[in-house]
Amino acid sequence: MKILLAVTGGIAAYKSLELTRLFIKGGHEVQVVMTAGAKEFIQPLSFQALSGKPVRDSLFDQNQEAGMGHIELARWPDMIVIAPCSAETLAKLRMGRADDLLTTLVLATDKPILLAPAMNRLMWSNAATQENVAVLTQRGFEVLAPASGEQACGEVGEGRMPEPQDIFHKTLENLEKHAKNNQAWLNLAAFWAGKSILITAGPTFEAIDPVRFIGNRSSGKMGFAIAQVAAELGAKVTLIAGPVHLPTPKSVMRLDVESAEQMFNAVQAHYQKQDVFISAAAVADFRVALPVQQKLKKQPDSDSMTLELVKNPDIVAWVASQENKPFVVGFAAETQNVLAYAQDKLVRKNLDMICANKVGQADNGQLLGFNQDSNALTLITKDRHLALPESAKSLQALALLEFLSEQLSFESV
Ligand code: PMT
Repeated sequence: MKILLAVTGGIAAYKSLELTRLFIKGGHEVQVVMTAGAKEFIQPLSFQALSGKPVRDSLFDQNQEAGMGHIELARWPDMIVIAPCSAETLAKLRMGRADDLLTTLVLATDKPILLAPAMNRLMWSNAATQENVAVLTQRGFEVLAPASGEQACGEVGEGRMPEPQDIFHKTLENLEKHAKNNQAWLNLAAFWAGKSILITAGPTFEAIDPVRFIGNRSSGKMGFAIAQVAAELGAKVTLIAGPVHLPTPKSVMRLDVESAEQMFNAVQAHYQKQDVFISAAAVADFRVALPVQQKLKKQPDSDSMTLELVKNPDIVAWVASQENKPFVVGFAAETQNVLAYAQDKLVRKNLDMICANKVGQADNGQLLGFNQDSNALTLITKDRHLALPESAKSLQALALLEFLSEQLSFESV
């Protein structure tokens, strides 16, 4: 997603560096705009280094305007975030002024705008500021409540800028809310209404003894995100979850399992009459041949032990081999040769579609795929290929369901 991050004058301006980093890490494109006041607190170069784009700060700079004029810039983002938003900026926005780049952009845009106010506690509680906030809220601006605590001026009270993590999550929530109000969402909801989707998510745990198991790092977030978005679009969703710590999305029927064999039994009991089966679970390929009933004891005279493993059923391949099978979507979690291995699984397991994702550690040390809030899927069918840029798992889920709807419509013609 494209985010225009506007920074206004205030001691909290330095916190917006962390906010920029979070947006970039989450796979978003960020254009920073600074007011003259903001530049008194922090150098534009710091934002440029993090966002990878020169900061915009002037309405009248020919060179800046030559790249992208201010009207074009007002149309560019999916969302405008003003953090920190000073008392002066709140007042100017309320009046509809257009005396610098930021206020002009706000007047010239129809994109959602989120404000993260930051100021002295008395300035915040002043009737003039509160009236400005009330008017802006009424006009559709989302104004975050400032945090409470010790302030830079030494006073204690409400007026601190909310933490970057909180602004980041609020921005994502708002992006999703606005995505759901547009025509594309309504068209997608018309497609999915009443369709049945079976989804597996999370890891499986394969018992060694009553207290130990073989597992993996899947958190279930990817599969749960698909279940949640599909249910919001009106699909009837059955979610078979391995051992995860996630709440059940609204209107989703959830069945909890632990091992691959239990997941297989649950899928066998539910795969019929489904339109789509999505296998997002990280199913263990092997289980312990003979789990023992009592806790295994260390053998004092031995420095090693051997566990015999046997193959688990391949659940997604089994569904794909059934006569009246649903449309079958697998996932491929790979640390290398991602697309080639995914392509191979698509063919070998006879799937209709596969979602490839790189897992493990990126070159910069960041963990990928497993237990992350964002992901970057490549959606592959026998004749289509779509690489999604990194974004929140809920947005990946939305793009996946959109791609899937096109594929199903195409195949039913
Ligand atoms: O849960 P998260 O923390 O959000 O992480 C998401 C994820 C990385 C787990 C997810 O995006 C993902 O890639 N899931 C599939 C992981 C996996 O097991 O991939 P695989 O390449 O080993 O398996 C290929 C396909 O076969 C998968 O659809 C898998 O569900 C299925 N499979 C595998 C083995 C088996 N015995 N039965 C299966 O059905």
